[in-house]
Amino acid sequence: MIAKPEAAPEVPGRTSVPRAHRFRGSLGRFATGVAIVTFDGVTKRHGITVNSFTSVSMEPPLVLVSIARTTKAHDELAGRPFTVNILGAEQRQLAMHFAGRPGPEPLWVESETAPRLSNVLAYFECKPWAAYDGGDHTLYLGEVVDFNYRNGDALAFANSAFTTIPESQLGMEDLL
Ligand SMILES: Cc1cc2nc3c(=O)[nH]c(=O)nc-3n(C[C@H](O)[C@H](O)[C@H](O)COP(=O)(O)O)c2cc1C
Repeated sequence: MIAKPEAAPEVPGRTSVPRAHRFRGSLGRFATGVAIVTFDGVTKRHGITVNSFTSVSMEPPLVLVSIARTTKAHDELAGRPFTVNILGAEQRQLAMHFAGRPGPEPLWVESETAPRLSNVLAYFECKPWAAYDGGDHTLYLGEVVDFNYRNGDALAFANSAFTTIPESQLGMEDLL
């Protein structure tokens, strides 16, 4: 007998949930890491917390972040080098600092390409590669010119909340 494919589980009261809310909630089920995009603008240094970081290409090495048009960082990022800082489990406060809830001023590391944050889990310094229309966001692609990582647990974001991913479960190097 051929097993029937399992139906997607119904969310209680699903049809009454407004569409935008349900869209956000559905997207939120995709667990991500947490990163901060840092760069020097014309008059000030910018940092913006994102979870829309994606690796794009190995050769050339390209990464992508999706930045909302409404943010202060949006216009200034066009054509500028930037760093993507991947956060460790103990860096929630940094994530909040660059998401509109400022705390103590973070420690910066100066670099020829773009400034980065001290002691992050990994970083990718990028030269601007391309920018694409992404509706109410812009997709900024960067060519990675320098990068590194340290050991440690990762900060993660899922279901609209921060969580952590222990280092022992990362294991990519063993899988590929
Ligand atoms: C976990 C998390 C993930 C976020 N991801 C993004 C993102 O991918 N793109 C984006 O434009 N904003 C994202 N935001 C919102 C920005 O961090 C927030 O709007 C920020 O305050 C904008 O800064 P600015 O207007 O000073 O540039 C995220 C916020 C949080 C807390």
